[in-house]
Amino acid sequence: MASAKLLGRYEAWFEEYAASYMGMDPEADRAAALKREHTLKVRDEMLFLGKSLGLSGEDLAFAAILGIFHDLGRFPQFAKYRTLSDAGSVNHAALSVRVLHARRLLDRLDPEDRKTAVFAVALHNRPLPPSRGPRRRVFFCRLLRDADKLDIYRVICGHYQEGPAKGDEIMDFALPDEPPVSAGVEEAVLAGRPARMEDLRTLNDLKLFQAAWVFDMNFAPTLKAVADRGYVEVIRAHLPDTPLVKEAFKNISKRLENPQNFYPPSPK
Ligand SMILES: [Fe+2]
Repeated sequence: MASAKLLGRYEAWFEEYAASYMGMDPEADRAAALKREHTLKVRDEMLFLGKSLGLSGEDLAFAAILGIFHDLGRFPQFAKYRTLSDAGSVNHAALSVRVLHARRLLDRLDPEDRKTAVFAVALHNRPLPPSRGPRRRVFFCRLLRDADKLDIYRVICGHYQEGPAKGDEIMDFALPDEPPVSAGVEEAVLAGRPARMEDLRTLNDLKLFQAAWVFDMNFAPTLKAVADRGYVEVIRAHLPDTPLVKEAFKNISKRLENPQNFYPPSPK
């Protein structure tokens, strides 16, 4: 059964796990520190979004546990492949599930929560959210996807505000800082749907792809938080002021103006 006490145990275990990937070299340390902080913040966002949707008790503790679990594969991914790009290495969500099994982390959960954890973690990075499946599993997966994107917005906005891109492998996947926007990305943002990773050719593609995540957010409190925290304005300020960008951000603003739930906001 998920509980605040069990969450505390997983948090303590996670600190040791993250620390075991530190101390190799500066770039690996940077990646591990970034993913440690991201994991803890996604846990916090799960608590924030969960409370906003009225979760409590075991459901809320379970939501936070999913935050701790979701990116466990990032640590061995960077250690082995020296990148956080799944396209250039492995699917980090599948690797997270492998870590869950290998470290026997699911043993303390009841059978339904085990299945929900594997489902949510395995599908948290898919291009589109799951629409079929038991309500509880789909709900927690969608909540995790929202919490994850909220925190990635924090990370990338901080990064863009730091100054011009320098071909950063960890943050920008070393994409070139050139003006053109790829056709696939342009088509998606103008149609008001999420863009696809495989269409990214330039840093502007990546920024538009990230801004278009608002079309892949499931719950009203997530969209409200994006609006309140001004994340898409920061991304926009770091894109050229072209007609395409103006049009794309019209659609994005519309989505944020009237935050809605795009999936029933409860696990039951
Ligand atoms: Fe992830």
